[in-house]
Amino acid sequence: MLIIKTVDELKDVLFRVKSSGKIVGFVPTMGALHAGHLSLLEKAKSENNVLVCSIFVNPIQFNNKQDLEKYPRNVEKDINYIEDLVDILFLPSEEEVFPSAPTEKFDFGKLESVLEGKYRPGHFNGVATIVKRLFDWIKPEKAYFGEKDYQQLVIIRELVRQFNLPVQIVACPTVREPGGLAISSRNARLSPEEYKIAPCIYQILLSLPPKTTLSVSELKQYAISEIEKIKEFKLEYLEIVNAKTLQPITNFDDAEKVICCVALYLGEVRLIDNIFLKK
Ligand code: PAJ
Repeated sequence: MLIIKTVDELKDVLFRVKSSGKIVGFVPTMGALHAGHLSLLEKAKSENNVLVCSIFVNPIQFNNKQDLEKYPRNVEKDINYIEDLVDILFLPSEEEVFPSAPTEKFDFGKLESVLEGKYRPGHFNGVATIVKRLFDWIKPEKAYFGEKDYQQLVIIRELVRQFNLPVQIVACPTVREPGGLAISSRNARLSPEEYKIAPCIYQILLSLPPKTTLSVSELKQYAISEIEKIKEFKLEYLEIVNAKTLQPITNFDDAEKVICCVALYLGEVRLIDNIFLKK
């Protein structure tokens, strides 16, 4: 695995890779790598000649200073975890990525005013800023994103559409622990007690697809009441939306694909998850 820290070297190496006709797959991450990231990397490895991974804890996508400070960082461990799989690891400093304060302003319309976007103002502008810069530098044929961050995936597809970027976005299913908890770098911050409770989120989500004979609002009410039964959960939102537009629906027939997205706090840790109700 080649570790590259500067944009110039990255462009240089990739220019040579591409000149030799190789197909580049890319997985952007913020490190603290786990089995979820690994699934993206393995898929990318199997579909491309050269696998590029980036690790960069992007400060401008954190709308909460504490969350940024507490974000787990362990580059040495990450390197060991992926060195046999990844061809090129891009590991830039903040100065390298943002030599001056970034000024990009994206407009994702209604896609960013709901769900995560509603509760984390500026978050998706920060995500789009870094992902667009990385795409411009790396110019991958394919880039891989997890369905765990479903709104991010939809917004990245919209970014690619708006700027006509020559990259194919590949969605990868959420990787879960045996009990169903979606694997996340933030799970490390859960106490042992919280860790036992956390899988209930997915158990509740799993109970929803068989109940789609209820109306959308009844199902939403049911899901919310199940979450509220667990006193440790502090619900931020639970929405049943059109999986393409992310807008709330009234009837299941209103959308081709329907997804239920949830965000809640367990202690100090904010957890998100989702499940397709119609796919
Ligand atoms: P990060 O949270 O490190 O996630 C990197 C990628 O791994 C994202 O596409 C995310 O959806 C995916 N991922 C995380 N947990 C997963 C799981 N349990 N199953 C499947 N995929 C999972 O998302 C980001 O970083 C950043 O916003 C980034 C895109 C790198 C921009 O800074």
